[in-house]
Amino acid sequence: MDRVSFTRMKDGTKEDYEFLNEHEIDHTKHTAKRLLKALVDLDKSLSGYQITRLGHSVQSASRAWRDGADTDWVVAALLHDIGDIYAPYNHDEYAATILKPFVREQCTWVVEKHGDFQMLYYGQHLEGADQHKRERHRGHPYFDDCAEFCERWDQASFDPDYDDLPLDFFAPMVEEVFARTPYDPDVIRPGVRVPLTTEPRA
Ligand SMILES: [Fe+2]
Ligand SMILES: [Fe+2]
Repeated sequence: MDRVSFTRMKDGTKEDYEFLNEHEIDHTKHTAKRLLKALVDLDKSLSGYQITRLGHSVQSASRAWRDGADTDWVVAALLHDIGDIYAPYNHDEYAATILKPFVREQCTWVVEKHGDFQMLYYGQHLEGADQHKRERHRGHPYFDDCAEFCERWDQASFDPDYDDLPLDFFAPMVEEVFARTPYDPDVIRPGVRVPLTTEPRA
């Protein structure tokens, strides 16, 4: 069997769906590789900055790594703008959706809301923009984490002179995260707050 028998889903057999399930399991094993490739594609998006979107992503992750952040934080920093390719109006939600089954709830929330928090740094310069959009999240348990994520890693990472770690450096961390059991409660750890910074790494 190399393909299913049906042309309408409702006509599929048990054998068809077991066959497809096997394919799907194999497909999911390569998510990390696809994401790393998508990051390289980010290099072509959003011109005008001093560095590319890939450069910004790698620089955010490099800062997170050097701040002693754990793997969930580093991978969240690396992928936080991956939605720029296909979802320019909700790139934060797009990235959060990718991360959600595989990282701590805290990191997913921060990535999902980072667009609102980033407006603090430029909203005052644009007509109709709400510089203080993040205030709608005030009081949320992860509010301070998102504020720190943006201050330390996101808004700061547009520097062409910063010593970025190479994308390959982060590949094993991306592989590790996306090889986890999806929605594993020991990974998601609802409500748990892990500091963004610990012992600085060289
Ligand atoms: Fe962003
Ligand atoms: Fe960003």
